[in-house]
Amino acid sequence: MMNTVLVGVQWGDEGKGKIIDFLTEVNDVVVRSQGGNNAGHTVEVGEKQYILHLIPSGILTKAKKCLIGNGTVVDPLSLVQEIEGLHERGIKTRGRLYLSDRAHLVMPYHRIADAGNEASKRVKIGTTKRGIGPTYQDKINRVGFRVHDLLDKDSFAGKLKARIREVNKIHKQNGWEALSAAKVNKSFMDAAELLRPYICDGIHLLHDFMDAKKRILFEGAQGTFLDIDYGTYPFVTSSNTTSGGSCTGAGIPPTSINTVYGVVKAYTTRVGEGPFPTEEDSLGDLLHGMGREFGATTGRARRCGWFDGVLARFSGRINGVDKLAITNIDGLDGLEEIKVCEYYKLGRKKLDYPPSNPEALKACKPIYTTFKGWKTSTSKAREWKDLPLKARQYLKVLSELSGSKIDIVSVGPKRQETFYV
Ligand code: GDP
Ligand code: IMO
Ligand code: MG
Repeated sequence: MMNTVLVGVQWGDEGKGKIIDFLTEVNDVVVRSQGGNNAGHTVEVGEKQYILHLIPSGILTKAKKCLIGNGTVVDPLSLVQEIEGLHERGIKTRGRLYLSDRAHLVMPYHRIADAGNEASKRVKIGTTKRGIGPTYQDKINRVGFRVHDLLDKDSFAGKLKARIREVNKIHKQNGWEALSAAKVNKSFMDAAELLRPYICDGIHLLHDFMDAKKRILFEGAQGTFLDIDYGTYPFVTSSNTTSGGSCTGAGIPPTSINTVYGVVKAYTTRVGEGPFPTEEDSLGDLLHGMGREFGATTGRARRCGWFDGVLARFSGRINGVDKLAITNIDGLDGLEEIKVCEYYKLGRKKLDYPPSNPEALKACKPIYTTFKGWKTSTSKAREWKDLPLKARQYLKVLSELSGSKIDIVSVGPKRQETFYV
């Protein structure tokens, strides 16, 4: 078996979409196993830019197959739009894209609750307001709808009516808009007609692919520190974004995974609220000034900071990262000096791991090593030796801190601005 899992090492937006696109060439099937359309994965092919939200980035490579696995949460209306958007740009999806019938559905009331909670809660998370948390909440609470429900019109209409009656009571208490079961039913049945040909039992499909010796690539969404268990809780997303999530989210055994890629930015970014020890506004100003680091899903300016070796080390352990893909090295090209956090000080204690309590993490002081910048463009580099010596030294430090080897370096957003080491 040749199965590869790819995860984000930081807080998402590491460049996973771009690296998935690069790795798709040597794989046959690309699978999303968690999260939903909160993700925004940017891929640039030639002069064209694509932003994928729920459909695996492998869809941009002809003849490759893609599965939206059981662990994802699917907004059917948004998925239809995404499919139609690809068709308009000449990308075929029929016979290539599969949707697991076990995946949970994001319902309109999940989006309303997500936005409503953000507006009223004491602790704001800064979610993408795509209804992700409330959908997973209903899944765990065993009151969710799954993709297979879309295929049984009569039963869906009845269950929906009953659920919307319950939901509307809660909406009334909160002062949120009331929903019409008939309207939701109509829009969902329209979407179901379009999605029907894509719906399948994702478990059988994936195991048949594995039996046929196909190479499977699992496309992580979000990043390690947004993981519901290992992230900076409560400032996290509602799924397991770490490598183990691919097993439960797609129905494959851990023994079937051969390689774990960790995608890491040469600096750090985060969107939304929560602790960020190495945050550095001046770096953010510089990157935003270059038109970089705006969210692919919400357009929000990402918070920016120095590379955090403490987080990278922890992420390496949790995910079992054996290969690193380092992106956005070119973002640091113009800097006189570049800082890297090697450990934290919490009071008088030296820490080489992030504390679990977000208040403690917030109180951690990053201890930096400062490197001289290479002050030359790296974007034309096409192999390791093309990089300036100082950039190579810097990348080696990131690799040492992360505890794994560099396999891929990315020096720009385009496909060809990527090379193996
Ligand atoms: P993802 O969510 O991990 O797939 O990452 P996003 O697509 O949200 O954000 C990554 C951003 O960085 C996108 O705009 C990419 O086009 C861009 N990108 C990826 N790798 C590189 C790189 O090496 N250099 C530059 N300049 N941009 C990159
Ligand atoms: P990709 O796959 C960056 C963040 C949100 C918020 C928190 C919870 O593109 O890397 P949610 O809507 O999931 O309940 O929001 O998680 N977040 C992301 N940040 N990249 C993402 O995805 C994200 N998906 C969610 O900003 O802080
Ligand atoms: Mg993104």
